[in-house]
Amino acid sequence: MSAKSSFHGWPRRAPSGRTSYVNGAYVPHAHAQVHIEDRGLQFSDAIYEVWSVAGGLLLDEEEHLDRLERSLRELAMAMPMSRGALKFVLRELVRRNRIDNGILYMQVTRGAVRRDHAIPKAAPRPSMILTARRMDQKTLEGRRKSGIRVISRPDERWARCDIKSTSLLANILAKTAARDAGAFEAWLIDEEGYVTEGSSTSAWIVDAEGRLVTRSLSNAILPGVTRRVIMESLAEAQMPVVERRFTLAEALAAREAFITAATLGATPIVEIDGKPIGEGKPGPLGRRVQELYAHAALKTARKEP
Ligand code: PDD
Repeated sequence: MSAKSSFHGWPRRAPSGRTSYVNGAYVPHAHAQVHIEDRGLQFSDAIYEVWSVAGGLLLDEEEHLDRLERSLRELAMAMPMSRGALKFVLRELVRRNRIDNGILYMQVTRGAVRRDHAIPKAAPRPSMILTARRMDQKTLEGRRKSGIRVISRPDERWARCDIKSTSLLANILAKTAARDAGAFEAWLIDEEGYVTEGSSTSAWIVDAEGRLVTRSLSNAILPGVTRRVIMESLAEAQMPVVERRFTLAEALAAREAFITAATLGATPIVEIDGKPIGEGKPGPLGRRVQELYAHAALKTARKEP
């Protein structure tokens, strides 16, 4: 065992000095750990949230907290701490990691308890973990400028995709297929041929009539926070948007297509399954949506909890 590595081969100290948060303590990232019988590890009995950080500020903080509370409620799990305290911890992690632009990841599991499928009657103490990391702005901006490629895959997920659960096997398989095909995202197609959403993003098109279209909310998709904030901005800007299903065929014939997520705002699609979308380059409406979103997200970002 070298002086620099621990028994598990991990560095003794986080090389970058990263700090994570585990169950009430700020810990060096390299030493951050949960128990092996944590139900998050055993059963994916856990939910998560991801915030984008821009200029040191959390974007869409309240909306992500609203969804966090909803995901927990749907699984009959308690908030691990009050919303006010949580806001403090989120900021503290951004501060300790000196994150200017990046992301905050939070996961709440039902807790560590002897393995048994049924949810314990006496609720264990939930586990709460948080990590923060920087994101390369040049990569993000480059992607927005040049657009991304998407492939289509069957949607093989469970029937409660509205819950932001860490049970993401079907999502990661689809995302891996995309990566292996030289694409950035996989659009998931339901049994009737309609696009549900991306493996980790919401899906949008500009239809033949020039209207923005995104699937309406249901158990089939995650209620994207970026989607929600964009919908509100579009309403304010009096730009029409239609919430309805669209098929892969319609997406292939669309004028524009783009994806949205906290980690990437609105990012244009230039190709689906090897076929160019519109003129095969980012379109004007997608760009407008990106501007609207950036403006809206920064407007509500608060330094203080
Ligand atoms: N993914 N749909 C799915 C399946 C997602 O996983 C995500 C987010 C979205 C977009 O949601 P939002 O706008 O709230 O980020 C839609 C996050 C970023 C992730 O899994 O890392």
